[in-house]
Amino acid sequence: MGANNIEIDPVKERVKNYWSSSSKYYDQSPGLNSEEEKACWKKELGKVIGEEKKDILDVGTGTGFIASLLAELGHNVTGVDFSKDMLAVAKEKTKRLNLSIKLMECDAENLPFDENIFDCVICRYLLWTLPNPEKAIMGWIKATKPGGKIIIIDGEWAPKNAAQKLSRKMLALHQFLRYGANFSKTHYSKSLRERIPNGDGVSSKKIVEYLSEFEVKDIKIIDLRHIRKVQKKHLSWHLRYSYDRPTHLVYGTVK
Ligand SMILES: C[S@@+](CC[C@H](N)C(=O)[O-])C[C@H]1O[C@@H](n2cnc3c(N)ncnc32)[C@H](O)[C@@H]1O
Repeated sequence: MGANNIEIDPVKERVKNYWSSSSKYYDQSPGLNSEEEKACWKKELGKVIGEEKKDILDVGTGTGFIASLLAELGHNVTGVDFSKDMLAVAKEKTKRLNLSIKLMECDAENLPFDENIFDCVICRYLLWTLPNPEKAIMGWIKATKPGGKIIIIDGEWAPKNAAQKLSRKMLALHQFLRYGANFSKTHYSKSLRERIPNGDGVSSKKIVEYLSEFEVKDIKIIDLRHIRKVQKKHLSWHLRYSYDRPTHLVYGTVK
């Protein structure tokens, strides 16, 4: 175990290196994160979390997209990630937006918090990349107060048709030309995906199964196609299908 409960694990090191090297252009994904899109996310988060001020943990916060929206909605937010480079971007962003968010480097599968301290634990696009998703969810539930909420946002990321495959290549080319990104590393290699149980993404059904295992109650699914529609609207035609995969928000109440 290293600093801040970060387990030295070869699979996690590869995942961490991948995100650290994409940190410099993660927020520049073409057409994503428009004001219209941010408003849609805020509306969705507001419906699930409510308006009253809450203590919220954003696991795998990355550049702090969800953490920033939650802070803007008035919540008390802690964001954790194991990539120092992603956290550096989040830190710069929260400073620029004048938001107060506690950011910490730690492993999503080994949280360094006491039990029952958050009203809500949320993650977006993290679950699919974890080598031990069940262990992680168990830790998130422990950190949540009884009656608090677990919110998991994820998607089914494998391209399903020729248009999606081509659009993904176009995205890789765009990132290579614009940001000098490694053309062959815009997604996980086959060998890395094989080491992760949900390497091609995670369906809403699978998330429900995970949450049910831990007796999370009142589980509900929200299909996020309306957000994808907004994302698509802001993308140029050749990138329009790169992000067009089933995405969903699944949430429930901790016992
Ligand atoms: C696809 S990005 C999502 C970032 C952010 N949640 C968002 O919605 O934009 C995945 C993030 O999870 C982080 N991550 C992956 N595995 C992790 C782990 N075991 N512990 C902490 N962070 C992890 C990565 O460093 C990366 O920042």
